[in-house]
Amino acid sequence: MNRDVCCDSSPLLPQWERGRGEGILNWYAVAKTAELAPGEMMYVEVGKKYEPVCLINYDGDFYALNDCCTHEDASLSDGEISGDEIECPMHGGAFEIKTGLPAAMPVVVPVKTYQVRVVDDDVQIGLES
Ligand code: FES
Repeated sequence: MNRDVCCDSSPLLPQWERGRGEGILNWYAVAKTAELAPGEMMYVEVGKKYEPVCLINYDGDFYALNDCCTHEDASLSDGEISGDEIECPMHGGAFEIKTGLPAAMPVVVPVKTYQVRVVDDDVQIGLES
């Protein structure tokens, strides 16, 4: 997959700060539930602009964060899940999986989060239109 689009100019505020639910969401199926066991994550590209997303199965629930670390240019899906955090592979900074908030230095800017739903056996990510 093409990860050259990692750091773009999209807003980095978490979904809850951007008025969750205010925009109309377009839902994209990105994986089957069986593809991602608890504690696993995968890189996916979502929507017409192939937005890079790190999809995580945390304790049976699915979460999606923008794949680009907000510190520098690193792919979070190449990192590690540690408890309820995802650790960046570059400098060890971390984000909370559920909120995208910074959890360990040198990360200080939240990573963008996305709404996720499961329909039948499809994991879907919602992008605002
Ligand atoms: S690039 Fe992720 S912590 Fe530095």
